[in-house]
Amino acid sequence: MGFYENHILPRAIHLVCGTEAFRRIRARWVPGATGRVLEIGAGSGLNFPFYSPNRVERLVALEPSAALRRKAGPTTEQLAVPVEWIDCGAEDIPLEDASIDTVVVTYTLCSIEDDRRALAEMRRVLRPGGLLIFSEHGAAPEARVLRWQRRLTPLWRKVAGGCHLDRATTERVRASGFVLEEVESGYLSRGPRWASFNTAGRARRP
Ligand SMILES: C[S@@+](CC[C@H](N)C(=O)[O-])C[C@H]1O[C@@H](n2cnc3c(N)ncnc32)[C@H](O)[C@@H]1O
Repeated sequence: MGFYENHILPRAIHLVCGTEAFRRIRARWVPGATGRVLEIGAGSGLNFPFYSPNRVERLVALEPSAALRRKAGPTTEQLAVPVEWIDCGAEDIPLEDASIDTVVVTYTLCSIEDDRRALAEMRRVLRPGGLLIFSEHGAAPEARVLRWQRRLTPLWRKVAGGCHLDRATTERVRASGFVLEEVESGYLSRGPRWASFNTAGRARRP
């Protein structure tokens, strides 16, 4: 890990993902988490304030970047629900089958190298009937924007921590065996169209 990945990228992620447009989406979906909760790629903890202490029994935060875990430190100290960190990638989650009630994943499926494997792991650790809450930027519905997303992704991945611009969130969640319950998508109010098509929602493990 170089200076860029350790110092610049974590600050940039915290700043960009902490903006109002993202905050509103977090506030809309994250409070729906209940019971034993696993957050995937929890980053600097920007979702943590939105978990309801009355509804969340246990909060496990998986995050492979030590720099982002450190950045989350101050937020975790003020939380009513203690955070248990797991230091690894989502492709192999060190939790028992069916041991989690809610998985939360926001702005992370785009950065996981093998997102299909990670989704299969999320499904495995969820109990039958368990909830997946997701919000991701991704493939735009317009062919012209999508073409730009495909062109820009190889360069963007290098500067943005492996982030893909062109992944189709809903299709990938559905293809991983989840049943979609509610989905809201559209462009965020700010940002270029190639980076701001957002899909958020809830899906269940059958
Ligand atoms: C853009 S940040 C989003 C952080 C946070 N989820 C949020 O909503 O602010 C992308 C996150 O994906 C994480 N990530 C990258 N590869 C991962 C992997 N293989 N498994 C789990 N998380 C990963 C990064 O460390 C980073 O925390």
